[in-house]
Amino acid sequence: MSTFRSVFIAVVVATALLVAGVLIHARRPAVERAQPTPQLVEATGKCAACHRQETGAIVVEYEQSRHAAVGTNCLDCHKALEGQERFEHRGFTLTRRITPRNCAECHATQYDEFLRSRHAAPAYAAVLGAAPFTAAQVAFAEQYHPGGVRRPPNPLIAAEGDVATTAGCVSCHQIGQPHRDGSIGNCTACHARHATSVALARLPTTCGQCHLGPDHSQLEIYQESKHGVLFNAQRARLNLEADPKRLTARDMPVPTCATCHMSGLGGQGMTHDVGQRLSWYLFAAVSTKRPGYLRAQNAMKAICLECHTRPHVERVYRQAETVVAATNARIAEATRLMDGLRKDGLIGDRPFTRPIDFTFFDLWHYFGRTTKHGAFMGGADYIQWHGNYELLAHWVRLQAEAQQLRRERGGMAGGATPGHGR
Ligand code: HEC
Ligand code: HEC
Ligand code: HEC
Ligand code: HEC
Ligand code: HEC
Ligand code: HEC
Ligand code: HEC
Ligand code: HEC
Repeated sequence: MSTFRSVFIAVVVATALLVAGVLIHARRPAVERAQPTPQLVEATGKCAACHRQETGAIVVEYEQSRHAAVGTNCLDCHKALEGQERFEHRGFTLTRRITPRNCAECHATQYDEFLRSRHAAPAYAAVLGAAPFTAAQVAFAEQYHPGGVRRPPNPLIAAEGDVATTAGCVSCHQIGQPHRDGSIGNCTACHARHATSVALARLPTTCGQCHLGPDHSQLEIYQESKHGVLFNAQRARLNLEADPKRLTARDMPVPTCATCHMSGLGGQGMTHDVGQRLSWYLFAAVSTKRPGYLRAQNAMKAICLECHTRPHVERVYRQAETVVAATNARIAEATRLMDGLRKDGLIGDRPFTRPIDFTFFDLWHYFGRTTKHGAFMGGADYIQWHGNYELLAHWVRLQAEAQQLRRERGGMAGGATPGHGR
């Protein structure tokens, strides 16, 4: 009898413990619940043991990562999810392609923010248009970026050919490519595949993989700004590994691209939506204010104010906005000149077919943008010599080329044509 009682109590206690265990487990965050089972740990051992021989660098990169430290293993990322093409590999079923869907299993917040940004669908549509996306994906992105996805392929594709598209444009713009499992984008553009590091993503050179060159010289501008100079001098003293949830100006007294555009410095709220703190469409030929201009500008200024005083920050913004206005005026003038030529039948509707098309394109796409970007990010040389000076030179050239076109037309018609206004 007493044996029965002790067995009964033991069973009750064990059941209670089990139920409590299940309840506690269910309340843990998804990231923790998704932690490895013994089978997964064993699988990772097998992957790593063999891949240490086959692809040593990958295993080393993984072993140094936060994932290895917290026990997120090879299969956690490499296993096939619903909708993914799978393949058999040494007794395991793996996904053919790891996408943000795999990362979002544990990092849903980051993925949702990313999805709302121009780094998602708009980046890919800027090159290939809306066609690669489903109607639902287009509708979703258009809520945040009107005209950002519902657009034709970029005219340079037809002009330069497919090789240019795949090898050139897409290498950068794949940051927003769609996948067959319905997800969009590429988390590893900033985090790498196996290092998956926050420190890496905070380096200006990581963003500078894509954000450089004459049409978006952000890396070059940063490097010549006081921020970039200080970063290079003091890099070893910055705490690039700091936990994003507790990042302060003590960890990073010098801002990098990520600090201003993404980090939650001093509790300002980290975001993977890189547009959240932008108030102007600077990449546009003639820049207009974004919807939510004030909210966005206040969000960026709040970051500056973690390190600067209000008058200092307001001065930068005031000056930058006068540069935007002046650049807009010059480009509007050049646009009127081109419209006049088109109206008079001197240039066709097909872009990139005449020298003057390139003069005009370089004028706004290289030098107009560079001036505006330089003004907001502290690049004096880019505002002036790579910006305003080139704007002037190209404006003079544009007028000369327009006159030439009118003279040629006049010559063909056997008489002079009156000049076009300017
Ligand atoms: C016994 C050795 C061995 C084991 C175990 C092993 N791999 Fe591999 N893996 C290889 C070799 C060798 C290659 C090179 C391509 C090939 O021969 O299949 C490879 C290729 C790969 C590729 C590239 C496949 C492609 O087609 O691009 C991935 C991804 C991969 N392995 C992941 C894993 C993961 C994850 C595990 C554990 C779940 C694992 N491997 C277990 C040996 C192994
Ligand atoms: C944080 C997620 C993650 C973890 C953890 C992870 N991988 Fe990967 N791995 C990736 C991604 C992303 C790719 C890129 C493949 C793609 O595009 O489908 C990749 C690619 C690979 C490749 C092919 C790469 C090449 O350059 O040929 C191999 C092999 C591989 N992983 C092995 C491993 C092994 C072994 C482990 C564990 C020691 C591991 N991975 C852990 C995300 C991960
Ligand atoms: C099975 C769950 C799981 C998957 C899948 C996963 N991660 Fe993680 N990841 C984690 C956990 C857990 C942490 C540690 C969180 C912490 O320290 O608070 C982490 C941390 C990170 C960090 C911060 C690293 C640092 O330096 O502090 C990055 C970045 C990251 N993951 C990116 C990715 C990317 C990109 C993918 C997809 C290729 C991915 N993760 C897939 C669970 C996962
Ligand atoms: C070196 C990387 C890189 C290459 C190569 C590249 N781009 Fe971009 N592109 C960018 C970056 C970065 C931006 C964002 C600039 C900004 O917002 O200031 C951008 C912006 C754009 C924009 C304006 C944004 C928008 O949504 O309208 C268009 C259009 C565009 N690119 C088209 C192309 C086309 C077409 C090609 C190839 C002919 C190409 N890009 C090649 C990196 C690149
Ligand atoms: C444009 C570059 C970029 C892309 C693309 C990107 N990240 Fe990040 N990510 C960052 C930066 C920068 C940080 C660190 C911000 C900070 O605190 O300074 C970060 C931080 C993280 C963290 C750490 C969060 C924490 O609180 O510890 C995770 C997890 C993460 N990213 C996951 C992802 C996933 C998943 C994707 C794809 C959907 C992704 N990232 C795409 C730049 C990027
Ligand atoms: C793989 C290439 C790539 C990398 C790496 C990359 N970007 Fe971008 N980024 C782009 C492209 C392409 C666009 C243009 C998207 C569009 O407007 O169509 C863009 C646009 C932006 C924009 C403007 C968004 C808007 O709403 O207009 C910001 C800000 C930005 N990126 C910041 C960053 C930062 C910060 C990093 C590093 C942490 C980074 N990017 C890394 C390719 C990249
Ligand atoms: C000190 C803060 C700061 C740093 C550091 C910084 N930016 Fe910016 N960035 C800004 C501000 C401010 C703007 C203009 C914001 C607006 O539109 O209101 C801007 C604009 C941009 C844009 C223009 C988007 C468009 O509309 O065309 C891109 C892209 C960008 N930054 C990328 C980068 C990259 C990449 C780096 C690093 C190489 C970087 N930024 C460094 C503050 C910063
Ligand atoms: C993480 C801290 C940090 C953030 C965020 C930051 N800065 Fe700075 N900034 C600095 C430091 C440090 C200096 C050098 C200050 C010194 O010399 O005393 C500096 C210098 C400058 C300078 C040059 C001053 C001079 O005359 O030498 C300007 C302009 C500037 N910042 C503007 C901005 C603007 C605008 C923002 C926001 C868009 C911003 N900064 C965000 C830390 C920051």
